[in-house]
Amino acid sequence: MFPLLRPALFSLDAEQAHGLTIDGLASWARLGTPFAAPPPDPILHSKVAGLHFASPLGLAAGVDKNGDAIDGWFGLGFGSVEIGTLTPLPQPGNPKPRIFRLVEDRAIINRLGFNNGGIDAALPRAKAARRKGVLGINVGANKDAVDRVADYTHGVSRAAPIADYVTINISSPNTPGLRDLQHGTALAELLAACDAARGTTPLFLKIAPDLEPAATDDIARAATANHIDALIVSNTTISRPETLTSRHATETGGLSGAPLASLARARLADVRQATGGAIPIISVGGIDSAAEAYARIRAGASLVQLYSGLVYEGPGLARRINTGLATLLKCDGFTTLADAIGTA
Ligand code: FNR
Repeated sequence: MFPLLRPALFSLDAEQAHGLTIDGLASWARLGTPFAAPPPDPILHSKVAGLHFASPLGLAAGVDKNGDAIDGWFGLGFGSVEIGTLTPLPQPGNPKPRIFRLVEDRAIINRLGFNNGGIDAALPRAKAARRKGVLGINVGANKDAVDRVADYTHGVSRAAPIADYVTINISSPNTPGLRDLQHGTALAELLAACDAARGTTPLFLKIAPDLEPAATDDIARAATANHIDALIVSNTTISRPETLTSRHATETGGLSGAPLASLARARLADVRQATGGAIPIISVGGIDSAAEAYARIRAGASLVQLYSGLVYEGPGLARRINTGLATLLKCDGFTTLADAIGTA
């Protein structure tokens, strides 16, 4: 049905279309997700950070920032759903328009700037959801926070009792100065404070794709020292590959989708080398098929996530990736997903 609906959705402003999608999924969830995707093939089951994932495919942060349609996403076949980024206080984000479809490039540029209703408004929804899978809560700092570390520790301590895992997002390009937290003593202090605030809940760290290998090494060291359970690699890029042809290519913001894939693959390799495989990696960026998800797993990712692929491929994508991944694993003679990780 999506090929029929896509022209109508694409005729709307991107943010409007997104809002309608969330509303539709939330309504479907209220009805109990009739005709939901079937449970993934058991070959897709795996354990990461002590959590059981029925499918390695997760919904990336930013799609459902406020956790309005959690059960709808699980109904589509995602093994995990990461809501957020949520900040301590609600904030409106940047002026509109602030999401652009680069249709010819199968990409998106966004400069939303952490628009969200605040963590206190979202947590009751997370708590009330039926959650047929792993629920992550991604936290960040308010734009005008006086003490950014305090914003993160607030988010981590509020989210940890409810989430299956909490992600610290220090890689959005749309909050000025935020990505400075990825370096040096700022990073070490932040991670130590969040580690102290999380209790027993697994803590993930999401990084940018625009990092030199030396910076990746520093992050790997700080992540190991502060017991980070997984690295999410990566957020959107501020770079603009020369291949882009869309008229929106020069918009300010973070680029995601197909043109991010090669950068995301390169960072996956860097992070794997820097951590020596000691910290599980969640690969994100330009994944829009079972073949690409499988390639990331073979290249060392324990799990994968996506956002932009949904915009171009529609809500049936999760189910198609689950089916395709199971087939690919079996064709190559694997009996479990874990056996395939890092075998490329
Ligand atoms: C994002 N992303 C994102 N990430 C995050 O950690 N917190 C957030 O609030 C958002 N918000 C957001 C909004 C929009 C419109 C987009 C397109 C993306 C980044 C997202 O989770 C993912 O890391 C990148 O989009 C790369 O994956 P894809 O889109 O290429 O599959």
